Amino acid sequence: MSRKSKDPTIKITHLSKSFGNVEALRNVSLEINSGEILAIVGDNGAGKSTLIKMLAGALIPDQGQIIIEGKSYSSLTPGRAISLGISTVYQDLALVDCCDVVSNIFLGREPVYAGFLVNRRKMEKEAGRMLEGLQINIPSLNTPVGKP
Ligand SMILES: Nc1ncnc2c1ncn2[C@@H]1O[C@H](COP(=O)(O)OP(=O)(O)O)[C@@H](O)[C@H]1O
Ligand SMILES: [Mg+2]
Repeated sequence: MSRKSKDPTIKITHLSKSFGNVEALRNVSLEINSGEILAIVGDNGAGKSTLIKMLAGALIPDQGQIIIEGKSYSSLTPGRAISLGISTVYQDLALVDCCDVVSNIFLGREPVYAGFLVNRRKMEKEAGRMLEGLQINIPSLNTPVGKP
């Protein structure tokens, strides 16, 4: 498949997902272009998390396609989504309370050196850079997130 230069980075077409009788998403399509920040807003139960979970590979759509940089997928896996550059920051219920901000950001994909040693310095540096880029100010990145 050839990619046109104006293709959106992420394109979702006609995604639907039901849980038994509950129709969480019906025929949702959207496009996200490079550099774009898109907010998805809706009531509780509107289907926001279901949509993001399909994009993150945590849920398999019943119908529709997820097109990343011109390549079409009927579903993703968490590993495939991460390798395609899709990262998800879940709400507080999905955080590991006893770990700090840095560890939570890199959970499951910690950079390593010498094959297996966690590169904490790199994690701290990158976490700081990410949060700064998003203009998010957190007093300490080294405090457990569950600490009041
Ligand atoms: N794992 C699940 N099993 C059954 N129903 C679910 C599940 N996940 C979500 N739902 C239902 O799908 C609908 C959309 O939920 P959700 O995507 O969490 O909405 P939002 O994130 O916008 O609050 C709701 O009716 C919710 O109860
Ligand atoms: Mg939600």
